[in-house]
Amino acid sequence: MAAIASLLTAVAVSIAQVSATIQNPAIQPRPPMGFNNWARFMCNLNETLFTKTADAMVSTGLLAAGYDNINLDDCWLLKERNSKKELQWDPDLFPHGMPWLADYLHTRGFKFGIYENAGNMTCGWYPGSQDHEEIDSKTFESWGVDYLKLDGCHMDLQKGRSYYEEFEYRYKLWHKIMGDLKKPFIFSQSAPAYFSPNFHLDKNNTDWYRTMDWVHNNGELARHSDDIKVYGLNITFEPGGHWESMMNNYGMEVRLARYQSCGFYNDPDFLIPDWPDLSMDEKKTHFSLWSSFSAPLIISAYIPDLTKEDIEYLTNKEIIAVDQDALCEQATLVSQGEYIDVLTKNLANGDRLLTVLNRGNHTSTTEVSLHRMGFINVGAYTAKDLWTGGTKKFHESLEVKLRTHQTAIYRIRPTEGVKLEVTPTGMIFNTFSLNCLAASHHSSSVTFAACDAADSQIWRVWDNGRVTPLSAVQQCLTVYDGEVSLEECERGPPKSQQWSYGVTGNLVNKGKGLCLEEGKKSVVVKKCGNALDSQVLALPGGVKLDK
Ligand SMILES: *[C@@H]1O[C@H](CO)[C@@H](O)[C@H](O)[C@H]1NC(C)=O
Ligand SMILES: *[C@@H]1O[C@H](CO)[C@@H](O)[C@H](O)[C@H]1NC(C)=O
Ligand SMILES: *[C@@H]1O[C@H](CO)[C@@H](O)[C@H](O)[C@H]1NC(C)=O
Ligand SMILES: *[C@@H]1O[C@H](CO)[C@@H](O)[C@H](O)[C@H]1NC(C)=O
Ligand SMILES: *[C@@H]1O[C@H](CO)[C@@H](O)[C@H](O)[C@H]1NC(C)=O
Repeated sequence: MAAIASLLTAVAVSIAQVSATIQNPAIQPRPPMGFNNWARFMCNLNETLFTKTADAMVSTGLLAAGYDNINLDDCWLLKERNSKKELQWDPDLFPHGMPWLADYLHTRGFKFGIYENAGNMTCGWYPGSQDHEEIDSKTFESWGVDYLKLDGCHMDLQKGRSYYEEFEYRYKLWHKIMGDLKKPFIFSQSAPAYFSPNFHLDKNNTDWYRTMDWVHNNGELARHSDDIKVYGLNITFEPGGHWESMMNNYGMEVRLARYQSCGFYNDPDFLIPDWPDLSMDEKKTHFSLWSSFSAPLIISAYIPDLTKEDIEYLTNKEIIAVDQDALCEQATLVSQGEYIDVLTKNLANGDRLLTVLNRGNHTSTTEVSLHRMGFINVGAYTAKDLWTGGTKKFHESLEVKLRTHQTAIYRIRPTEGVKLEVTPTGMIFNTFSLNCLAASHHSSSVTFAACDAADSQIWRVWDNGRVTPLSAVQQCLTVYDGEVSLEECERGPPKSQQWSYGVTGNLVNKGKGLCLEEGKKSVVVKKCGNALDSQVLALPGGVKLDK
């Protein structure tokens, strides 16, 4: 849930780092799974909903499959704090109280999540935590809370801070306070959503990137962009826009892979399995994509009424294992054509994940080559289809046929005798303009162009810092005399042909430390700025070459 606020200017803040998050992956070693009421019920929540949900999650096997967080969203509280300035639950909605509910959930093996707001009111106009961070953290601790989703509505700008600075100050304050609790809460941060592209259509992405730059050191997950479109007001289903909402959040997530590693997860929001206007293929696509991202799997639905078919796909062991894989990698785009998206990532046992999505309105067939999957060596490989369980042997390329809005998800591995060697391979794209870096067919020049899935737009990023297009394997992305071009790869490689990439999203040439930039007409290198739209890129593998 989210809202829009205004901008002022001001001074910088800095709060000492305490250990948590990617510095302490033990808090949330794998992406969280569970339930949240928001997208399905919004403010129509009560104790019975949560106890029935918990019971159903036990009896359907969802808990056993790993969905072990039960999280409340907004509107659980009274409009006033008590005389001690503490938050109070609404006793009409929660007659037994929060400690009782926490105990009910803990007894059954769940963690208990609650919702609050970094600003002075929640998005639903209940008391917010701004200037009450300490007391609220103690209250939640005394109730048995394990998980906090902290939203960002109604931020009151204090001490001359800008809107951005107030967010940074409040979220870092919460992080610090949680470090002093007996056990820190799992911290879900909504901060980046308030700076995401759809929130500020008139603005650049700089503050979005800057927020993402600190949330991964500050909590376990971050809601980076839009809410998934809700079921409807007053729990009356309003059809339309749900597939588009899912695709929108998918399109935001693919821009941010570089931030994710075990301990911190990019959060594209809830799974919505009981929306009547989503086909089974669309629901399975949602689950396949989120799992390929190793994203949080938080279901918003009326669990007791889920069909057997819904439970079956939500508890698919092989796909959950991809989500919960020990590398915690977020799959990245190999290619994006008119209808078909291809994504890959490494899995802990050495398998390569291949995920193929048909965004189009008709059945489509595509071929994905071994090179596009990131394999260096040719030979025989096997593909295990994680939806059907079937295994297929192939050479050179795998043919994939998909119905409209269907997604296939495979584990690929070489057969005996073929050496496993993988290099991150895929699109290099500007995460503001969404244009792809492209090698020219006839000259040594490179450009940014609309993504079209051609070989000339697919790049390999080597351990030694080389970047080479799939269409010209001996050609290296080079900076020579201040110009960017493709030149014969030289031994060494020389610094002019070495690049580094990290959470800043900048692709930095090692020669003079300049950043690759999408210019108006050409690709250039310039002095690196602070999270500039023209310089922030997504790379295959989300690779952190400079780690
Ligand atoms: C609790 O909430 C659910 C979902 O909104 C609703 O169907 C149910 O009637 C409510 N129960 C009570 C006791 O208020
Ligand atoms: C919250 O902050 C806003 C903006 O500064 C202010 O107008 C409002 O009075 C504050 N509300 C509360 C409950 O403190
Ligand atoms: C981008 O936005 C930031 C923050 O709002 C602003 O300071 C900066 O000047 C903007 N940059 C450009 C190039 O417009
Ligand atoms: C939803 O319920 C509220 C309060 O009960 C009512 O004012 C509003 O008109 C309802 N909205 C719809 C779309 O039914
Ligand atoms: C599919 O059809 C819808 C509705 O006509 C249209 O809005 C959308 O652009 C189409 N999608 C593609 C990828 O062609």
